[in-house]
Amino acid sequence: MRQQIVAGNWKMNKNFDEGVELTRGILEKVEKPQGLVILCTPFPHLRDVGKMIKVRKNFHLGAQNMHHEEKGAFTGEVSADMLASVGVEFVIVGHSERRLYNKEKNQLLAQKVNVTLAKGMRPIFCCGEPLHIREVDTHVGYVSKQLKAGLFHLREEDFRKVVIAYEPIWAIGTGRTASSAQAQEMHAAIRILISRKYGKAVADETTILYGGSVTPATAEELFSQPDVDGGLVGGASLKPDDFAAIVAAMK
Ligand code: PGA
Repeated sequence: MRQQIVAGNWKMNKNFDEGVELTRGILEKVEKPQGLVILCTPFPHLRDVGKMIKVRKNFHLGAQNMHHEEKGAFTGEVSADMLASVGVEFVIVGHSERRLYNKEKNQLLAQKVNVTLAKGMRPIFCCGEPLHIREVDTHVGYVSKQLKAGLFHLREEDFRKVVIAYEPIWAIGTGRTASSAQAQEMHAAIRILISRKYGKAVADETTILYGGSVTPATAEELFSQPDVDGGLVGGASLKPDDFAAIVAAMK
């Protein structure tokens, strides 16, 4: 069955104490979520936030990144095994900020997807086009390439564990949300692509999240689109009231 998910991506915000406080606030405000709620915190917060949310139904722990090699002499890096060992269940792979600032390319992202799955976690694989691509109307082809290169090498059994997040780059942190029609168009196109590769049953079961300036004001309409299965939320995930309202918009 297709899962509804709202994932909070805290990015590089909140020191440890603030992160604990934010988690407390979220646990207080979010009531009986209709789908899964994933908190993707900075690395130092993971273990403690994991313990805090463990007792709550439908809450899950996510990381924002990890290294593509399993282990070794990679000073300053964090491995999939380390994440799994502190209770991480989901890992964001290929966020546009990492593609841009850390020059992460599709081949490397495919490796990260593999390592995530090999350690029993589920990737939240991000895709999305920059503004100049949207303006010349080649966004569907652009996103197709990202998905083919990052995910379509997987066997069906593994692909079924993947969550996809469509995040148009021009909508991230800009306050400019894609319209629900723009989101639906891309999500439907992604589902068709999956269906061609893995068949309709798998496509129907794949969770496709929308990300990019999701707010309490936009969440309900976005999530009511037939192919939008929830959101990956940045800015609004740092405010318990806003995040709770977005979680409540899950259908
Ligand atoms: P935003 O970020 O909600 O602040 O636009 C979304 C994301 O980058 O995941």
